[in-house]
This record gives sequence, C-alpha cells and structure tokens, in this order.
Amino acid sequence: MDNMNEPFSLQDFSDADRWQSLMRPHLLKIKPYSSARDDFKGNADIWLDANELPYGQFLNRYPDPHAKELKKLLGKIKAWEISDFLLGNGSDECIELLLKLFCEPGQDEIMICPPTYGMYKVSAQINNVKVIEVLLTSDFQLQVDEILNNASDKTKVLFVCTPNNPTGNLMERDSILRLLREFKGIVVIDEAYVDFGGEESWTVFVKQFPRLIVLQTLSKSAGLAGLRVGICYAQSDIIERLYSIKPPYNLSGATQIISIMELKHYKRRRKLWAKLNSAKASLISSLDKFDSVIKIYPSDANFLLVKLKDADYFYRELAEMGIVVRNRSKEALCEGCLRISIGKNDENKQLIKIWKRIDKSFRKSIPSEFKEEMK
Ligand SMILES: Cc1ncc(COP(=O)(O)O)c(C=O)c1O
Repeated sequence: MDNMNEPFSLQDFSDADRWQSLMRPHLLKIKPYSSARDDFKGNADIWLDANELPYGQFLNRYPDPHAKELKKLLGKIKAWEISDFLLGNGSDECIELLLKLFCEPGQDEIMICPPTYGMYKVSAQINNVKVIEVLLTSDFQLQVDEILNNASDKTKVLFVCTPNNPTGNLMERDSILRLLREFKGIVVIDEAYVDFGGEESWTVFVKQFPRLIVLQTLSKSAGLAGLRVGICYAQSDIIERLYSIKPPYNLSGATQIISIMELKHYKRRRKLWAKLNSAKASLISSLDKFDSVIKIYPSDANFLLVKLKDADYFYRELAEMGIVVRNRSKEALCEGCLRISIGKNDENKQLIKIWKRIDKSFRKSIPSEFKEEMK
C-alpha cells in the first residue's frame, strides 16, 4: 500500500481477514521493538546483552516479554492455544491496546452500552477516540437494533460486558450472536466476571466470528488483582498485531513468577467460587428483609447492585462506620443504587449488623408524614 494512512475497504479482504480493514493502516507496517530478550533465543551461561546489573538474583534481569511459562500454564488450564491470547498489565491494558490498534484518534469511535465498566470510555477519551453510547434497556439488556442503527464505518469497536459491571447480569446470548453477525466492527466481549456464574466463555466462538475478541482477567475469580494480569483472546493474527504494539515488558518478572505459583493451585479456586456464591445468596436474603432496600438485581458476578430508598445516605453512613461500597446512584439506569462486592462471611455479617443500625436511623430521620408512602 502506497499511502499507509489510506483506509482499506472491506472488499480488499476475505471474510476471515476483514478485521485488518479495521486496523489503523500505519500499524500494518510497524516493526515492533526487538528487546534484548527477543534477539537471542536459547540457553546461555553469561548474559551481557541487556545492560542489567549483574549482581542479584532473578529480579536484576528483565522478564520474558512473551511470558511464555505463564502462558503455557494458563493455556493448559483454559485449554487454549498459546498463539490465541495475549497477557496485559490487567485487562485495562488490553482495552488500551485494542483502542490503539483499531481507533484512529480524532477520527474513529467506539460504542459502549451504559451502565457499564468505566474504563472503556476513559481509555477512549485519553486516546481522543469518540464514544457512542447506547443505553441498556431498563432490565439491563442490549438494544441490538439501536446499536446497529447508531454504528457507522467509523465505529471500530463495540464493548459488551457480560456479566456486566455494575449491573451484574449476563447479556442475552441471542443478542450477542446477532451483534456478532451484523455489527461490522470488532466486538469485544469483556468476561471479567464469567467464572462466578459458570456461564460458558465466548472464546469458543472466536473461530466462527473472526472479529470477536474476548477479555478475561486474573483480577476477579482468580483472586490476583494485585498482580495485574489481563487476558485478551482472539484469532492468532489479531494477537500477533497486538504483540507488535504492546510495551515489551508489560508483565513484570514478579508478576509472572507469582502468577505461575498461584495458578498451580487453580483448581482450588472452584471451591472458593462456590463458597462465594453461597455467601452471596445469604447476603441477598439478609438485605432483602430491610425496608430501605427497594430491589436487589439478579447477579452472575461477585457483587450485587442494590436499589435503595436513599443510596447516598446509606453510602455515607456505611463509610462512616468503616465499610466502603461503590455509589453508582448517579449513573444512568442505576439511580438510587449501590454496588456491593461480596465479602467473606464475617465481613458480610458485619455489613448486615451495621446496615440494621443505619436502617433504624434512616427510618427515624424520615418525617412521619412521608413514612406511609415510603413503605
Ligand atoms: C468489566 C471489567 N473489565 C475489566 C476490569 C479491569 O480488570 P483488570 O484488573 O484486569 O484491569 C474490571 C475491573 O473492575 C471490570 O469490572
């Protein structure tokens, strides 16, 4: 291609390769940075190639830019080919990389369906990429017709979060399938919370829909938020392109080694998810008894979205008593809602104990003439 910034037309590519027409054209020609650890592959006794301090053990060395050992283990756990996924510094970095790969700043746009995870929008804004918002329905499902009608050839990426943060629900399968068939850009399905509900991952559809990309993370169900490991799963050609633009050492050596240690016991996590789900059920039944609680939305994640008579009051009072939850009451469709993560049993019990007190003071604070209508 003579002019690297010339946009491609869809006809230039076969169906499986159409995603390339969505890429920022100049990135098709980028030559990735070749780090010292890329240049030499093999075993050696003396490493004098990367200007590291020779004294010390392990952490004096740059980490593997491809995190091969960690990927091997993760690939085994998830039954994935290593070439089909990339690891990021949290899935937040994967979101950032996807924007970089597909969206021309000041020109292209992404589409999101609020209320949803906030970083899609923030990342887009940082990258000077316009954000088109199509609200979810009142029961937090995708408005597929609206999404398709509002998309143009500038709408490069659609983010779908399922289970969705902050609403906690899964998106209907048929809606997603229709978007995979009819949306012309890249569909990113963010499955940060997928393990809690036991729903099958959308990764199995990547072969069938080459413009599908799935995000997962070790921050939630794997319990490793402190390590910062996000996963981007896609067809191997897209993964290769993402590798060409990622910072060479995006996963620290400490992250790689501790992740491997932790993931060796991955099977034990399943027991924890069952434990968490039973804690969630008992938290729901306790919260449900309070007069101050209007609704607890169904959740396939490790948190609850709870609609209250006065979310700001409860948020303030809980914080005053040392319990921090997330106030989502200013977000569209979440008016009056707090998002509450499921804690350990004793933490949930403490929450309920304190809630009882706040509920009592809340009732007292309501002028008697309003009490009847608040019931
Ligand atoms: C839906 C969703 N995606 C991604 C993330 C970010 O995950 P990570 O910790 O891997 O950056 C979060 C974090 O809350 C999230 O809720």
